[in-house]
Amino acid sequence: MYSNKLYTPLRYPGGKARFAPFIAEVMQSNGLATGHYLEPYAGGAGVALELLFHGHASHVHINDLDPAINAFWVAVTKYPEALLKMLHDTPVTMEQWHHWRAIMRGELPADAIERGFATLFMNRTNRSGILKGGVIGGKAQAGDYKLDARLKKEVLASRIERIASHAGNITVYCEDAKHLLLRSSEFLPAKSLIYLDPPYYVKGRGLYRNFYGHDDHVAIAKVLQSNAFKQSWIVSYDNVQEICHMYQKSNGFTYGLNYTAHKRYIGNEVMFFSRKLRIPGAEKADTQLAA
Ligand SMILES: C[S@@+](CC[C@H](N)C(=O)[O-])C[C@H]1O[C@@H](n2cnc3c(N)ncnc32)[C@H](O)[C@@H]1O
Repeated sequence: MYSNKLYTPLRYPGGKARFAPFIAEVMQSNGLATGHYLEPYAGGAGVALELLFHGHASHVHINDLDPAINAFWVAVTKYPEALLKMLHDTPVTMEQWHHWRAIMRGELPADAIERGFATLFMNRTNRSGILKGGVIGGKAQAGDYKLDARLKKEVLASRIERIASHAGNITVYCEDAKHLLLRSSEFLPAKSLIYLDPPYYVKGRGLYRNFYGHDDHVAIAKVLQSNAFKQSWIVSYDNVQEICHMYQKSNGFTYGLNYTAHKRYIGNEVMFFSRKLRIPGAEKADTQLAA
């Protein structure tokens, strides 16, 4: 059973950890197994962690432009002991929620570890893990679930420890995805795969602290499909006409996905991939990747 809950300490709206076995298969069938893996929009990085922990990738590159998300990945890979101590020592109360929210918003001075912890605390105590969302149970804590419902210290501590034990094989970035893609040949060996999970074309706004407009999506499609871009890549999106148009030069397929943010519903998703990639099962249109 694969789930976003297995390895990443972050809850993420639209988390894609369930894709990890599929991405591992793509790496395997294209001679990329044990190569490098880059996620330019990493969020909770559930896919990257699973590929690394299961030995499918030897090194993972985790990028996210959101400074709060980046602060978490920096803290967990560079200062795990201090992060673990903070997790152990911090009571999960509304008073603390206000404190860590102020740190996340930059309203209080804080060091790199505190900023990383603020992300973890807010991610685990807010509804659906949305950093700018409301606290579980509401400010009056009158709901059935209280703010500690999703913050289980022992579970989080063991995930942090596991990531820390692989930190030598994790590189963390806080760059604009397009910028990072354009310089990716500087740090990615030929045996690499890039999986892009950009903010959704339609629903991206409101879920994440950075969002894309139409032109940003177009710019990424152009970089990936240009002849100059040599890396192998896979991109997943909401299945809308505009996106299919942007990726018309590439092969792709659609699939259904159970997706949780605010509420559960069946979405219609699409995946495109670079020409030279052989995609297992891609010949079947409307492949059901996840249920
Ligand atoms: C759909 S989410 C990725 C979720 C991730 N696949 C997971 O499983 O957790 C998109 C992410 O892209 C980030 N992002 C938005 N604009 C970006 C940009 N221009 N460059 C890099 N990251 C960006 C957001 O902060 C968000 O974390």
